[in-house]
Amino acid sequence: MISDATLLTLAGEYGTPLYVYDGDMVVEHFRALSGLIPHPRLRIHYALKANYNPALLALLRDAGACLDAVSPGEVHLALKLGFAKERIIFTANNLTDAEFEEVCSLGVLINIGSLSRLSKTAKRYPGLSICLRFNPDVVDGDNAKTMTGGDLTKFGILMEDLPQVLDIVRAGKLKVVGLHEHTGSGLQHTESVFRSMQNLMKLATPENFPDLKFMDFGGGFKVPYRPDEARVDYVAMGSEIDRLFREFEARYGRELAICFEPGKYMVAECGHLLTRVNTIKKNRTRVIAGCDSGFPQLIRPMLYDAYHQIDNLSNPEGTPAVYDICGNICETGDRFAEQRSMPEVREGDVLAIRNGGAYCFSMGGIYNMRAMPPEVVIASGEAKLVRPRVSNAELADRLLAECGMA
Ligand code: LLP
Repeated sequence: MISDATLLTLAGEYGTPLYVYDGDMVVEHFRALSGLIPHPRLRIHYALKANYNPALLALLRDAGACLDAVSPGEVHLALKLGFAKERIIFTANNLTDAEFEEVCSLGVLINIGSLSRLSKTAKRYPGLSICLRFNPDVVDGDNAKTMTGGDLTKFGILMEDLPQVLDIVRAGKLKVVGLHEHTGSGLQHTESVFRSMQNLMKLATPENFPDLKFMDFGGGFKVPYRPDEARVDYVAMGSEIDRLFREFEARYGRELAICFEPGKYMVAECGHLLTRVNTIKKNRTRVIAGCDSGFPQLIRPMLYDAYHQIDNLSNPEGTPAVYDICGNICETGDRFAEQRSMPEVREGDVLAIRNGGAYCFSMGGIYNMRAMPPEVVIASGEAKLVRPRVSNAELADRLLAECGMA
């Protein structure tokens, strides 16, 4: 755990806003999950969409993690970082033919989630080894925008379409080496994990899919975001997963690998966005703490009404008061927290926005022409600035250069 004192020192050294990731903790989470699901053929494919900082990816590569990639760009990044193509599974949706071709030519296994794409594949690449993504028909997730099961979402092939799937697969002599499902992000009920597994395993008979090498049950493992939120009993969950899968292997008649694709579980708690308060404003009914970051740099509160714990590193013992913690972007919704009680916030104080490791930097942008914050990664106890700050002038130059107007 990075101490708050270390975070304050880093804020002083590199300035704010600043992302800090505890790379050692990321590796620990990877190892912990490997221990919690005690199956000998467990494979953890880290969902790099959650955080693709190359230094973190390199740590996970060295620790033996596999990857879940969702765009050709992510596949290229993974390969360039030295992940073997066999360690990557590519799960995209609404791919163009050109993108499919591109990933196929890189030799990475493609997970197909629609009948349309399956038919095109059977015609264009007869005999190809593929993975198939089914919709588990279980609805769960930490908010409506991150639930991926059920017929209100665009993901996966419906289970009732199995007969068509089998016709296409047989006609194209496709080799289905894996079946996949992903139920949602931040699954609220461990029961959902088991139900989705069971739904997918029901389809996986040796008659339907004789060539299976693995079953992939996606990501979605929840971590606490609120201080009073209970941690999931992952020991109990892991042993139930193991039991269900062993039962399935016995029915299937052969040993298979079991894959998961965690994003949040691996990185959410390992990251902090540090931002400094520069303006305290007392409006009629509200006290507004204005800071030097904004929603393009951490969009989850604005996009999902997500709760992120915010700690005042500079005044942890201050008398609590209630604040709107706002950013520096020209929009009213630019708030990290609304009516949040916390120790007195003063101009100059450094705030740490917690759980800043997953879907924070990676969903960021430069709206209002403010560069994304620099990133520090702590590995083997040592802090390193892996992405330096981009100055305002440099940001403008980059844009002009990209448009050939430099
Ligand atoms: N596998 C697939 C196919 C996925 O679509 C996802 C997430 C994951 C694995 C990893 O899920 P995780 O373990 O991180 O929950 N931006 C949202 C989350 C979107 C998740 C998209 N897919 C958020 O900030 O809550």
